Amino acid sequence: MKGIILAGGAGSRLFPLTLVASKQLQPVYDKPMVYYPLTTLVESGVREFCLISTPHDLPRFRQLLGDGKAWGLSIEYREQAKPEGIAQAFLIAESFIGKDDVTLILGDNIFYGGDGFSEAFSEFRGGASIFGYHVNDPERYGVVEFDGEGRAISIEEKPKQPKSNYAVPGLYIYDNNVINITKALKPSARGELEITAVNVEYLNRGELRVHRLNRGFAWLDAGTSSSLHEASAYVQTIEKRQGIKIGCPEEAAFRSGFLSLSELESLINKIPKCEYRDYLQEMVAEAKRLKIEPSALL
Ligand code: G1P
Repeated sequence: MKGIILAGGAGSRLFPLTLVASKQLQPVYDKPMVYYPLTTLVESGVREFCLISTPHDLPRFRQLLGDGKAWGLSIEYREQAKPEGIAQAFLIAESFIGKDDVTLILGDNIFYGGDGFSEAFSEFRGGASIFGYHVNDPERYGVVEFDGEGRAISIEEKPKQPKSNYAVPGLYIYDNNVINITKALKPSARGELEITAVNVEYLNRGELRVHRLNRGFAWLDAGTSSSLHEASAYVQTIEKRQGIKIGCPEEAAFRSGFLSLSELESLINKIPKCEYRDYLQEMVAEAKRLKIEPSALL
């Protein structure tokens, strides 16, 4: 399964923060925002990535993440010259996807809570898998409606009168047909290739699965100054209380078996003395002490 991280957009709602660094590079408590979606996919077993951003911002992402090798990953980069919709990512990354299945995550979506996505990834056999998350303000999102048996029956993009409180978060899993489906799409009234139109097509074909995320799961939006601040406060609260980091790609790569213990140790040696390094060092010490598989660590 290939992974796309879409980190485009003007970030105008965060002006003036975004004058020099794009939205997905802003700090969410103790890490750049893009670390969180990257970690979510690494935890789900994705190892090959394509990051898509604007021509202006792409060099900074490259500077931050490099080719991914240090983390046992591979990361390629592609430009989205104009913001012409989320689904455009499948056309931009067509050669990267090749003949594989693909998952796309939005660079400003932060997820946290147990193994919310693991079932969807492990059970994926084709078609499309998306998620439904109960929110207070569904009109801001793609909204999915369920029938009495819990089957999805409609999906609408930012409806004025939402048919349910279930918003569709920015993490999508598709088979390779997504490329041809996107090629056949017409731009919407706002001039974009809508991800919701892709999902509607899979729904019409009877190939869409919607997994409901339960109430213990956190999906945070970080697109405005106040939601960015709230996301930072949330991450700080959990990290301080539990002593466990959210959105730490090195840790996720180790737990997913992409980095060996010795590779992780040499990587830690290159990190300057700081709290982030201390955290990784403690994790290594714990892994050595417990003599268990990295995936079994708390
Ligand atoms: C986009 C999608 C929407 C989805 C949301 C998740 O909205 O169009 O369906 O629910 O991401 O973050 P946008 O970021 O364009 O407001």
